[in-house]
Amino acid sequence: MRYGDMEIYENYSLKGLSTFGIDVKARRILFLRGSSLDEPFRFMYDVDELLKSDFRQGPYMVIGEGSNIVFTKDYEGTLIKIGEAVFQGGGDGQYKYLTVGARMLTDEVVRISVGYKYYGAENLSAIPGNIGAAVVQNVGAYGVEIKDLVDTVDAVDLLSGERRTLSNEECAFGYRTSLFKQQPGRWLIWRVKLRFSTTFKPNLSYKALADELQRRGIADPSQQQMREVVTELRWSKLPRPEEYGSAGSFFKNPVVDASLADSLKREYPDMPVYPGNKLSAGWLIDRCGWKGRTLGRAGVWPKQALVLYNTGGCTGQEVVDLARAIQHDVRLQFGVALEPEAIIV
Ligand code: EPU
Repeated sequence: MRYGDMEIYENYSLKGLSTFGIDVKARRILFLRGSSLDEPFRFMYDVDELLKSDFRQGPYMVIGEGSNIVFTKDYEGTLIKIGEAVFQGGGDGQYKYLTVGARMLTDEVVRISVGYKYYGAENLSAIPGNIGAAVVQNVGAYGVEIKDLVDTVDAVDLLSGERRTLSNEECAFGYRTSLFKQQPGRWLIWRVKLRFSTTFKPNLSYKALADELQRRGIADPSQQQMREVVTELRWSKLPRPEEYGSAGSFFKNPVVDASLADSLKREYPDMPVYPGNKLSAGWLIDRCGWKGRTLGRAGVWPKQALVLYNTGGCTGQEVVDLARAIQHDVRLQFGVALEPEAIIV
């Protein structure tokens, strides 16, 4: 069914709309049109139409590429899928900027930034999902988080209908969280302005990345080399999306009390502890013997225990059952509660 230019479908299969590839349906889905930067009114026209519609009468949710979401059953509400991606560059002498439509893939943004020699995003290479979603959960990898690059975020407040430009501070970023994640259902992000450095200094703060560069004999990496090494390192640990469905890291790395971190460190001297008493969920899960195991058709990725995946035809419930079994064992063995990073619907 089509109203104006916004596409609306009912009982729509979500198999291709989430990277876990689980075959459930949404009662209704709206596809918003592209947010052309020159013609933002096209997108805003759809937003106006959306705000006038009855979507708030039932459950609703804004979705991006579906790379951090697990649907366990049919969604009895309205999904809102944001429009296509566009970008615009610019600078003010001190910094360089890219303004991108929320639907642009994060890796595409990184690729463009590397092409322009805008520095700072290269360590986020090969992250799945789109930039709007990256902002919602403040994605991070290899020593960089998206919050380090966000200048402003343009969003529509779906409760008041107000259009807002939020500063980095107003986004209230934290480890894998933000204002947008803390207020589900309130915000529709449609444009993100990212700020880049004009001078290149490789970020080698993440040990595994520094070690890999050393192993390859690269002492003074270029931006392009950083992108290549990060991409390869990442893919060496994660399932290829065309082979197996997954949502990347399924759990957050847990932050624990200093006393618990200290006592665990004494008992397990080889256990990684990051600044701020953050433990490695992958290590804990691995130590419980879960790496490479399956429960039903859901599995723990053999090369990175933090990643749960669909071994083929898996249901959302099977993923949840596996996650619960892992949480149970990690709590029993280490006294640590693991919290999902992925959004379970
Ligand atoms: N480890 C194990 N066994 C495992 C996995 C990890 O012992 O099966 C230990 C190792 O000691 C390893 C350490 O854990 O050195 C850290 O592993 P890794 O470098 O793979 O990082 P991570 O902490 O498990 C986080 C992010 C990833 C991100 C990487 C690299 C979270 C929840 N995950 O994983 O993000 O790519 O660091 O920066 O913070 C994602 O969020 O989807 C994601 C993939």
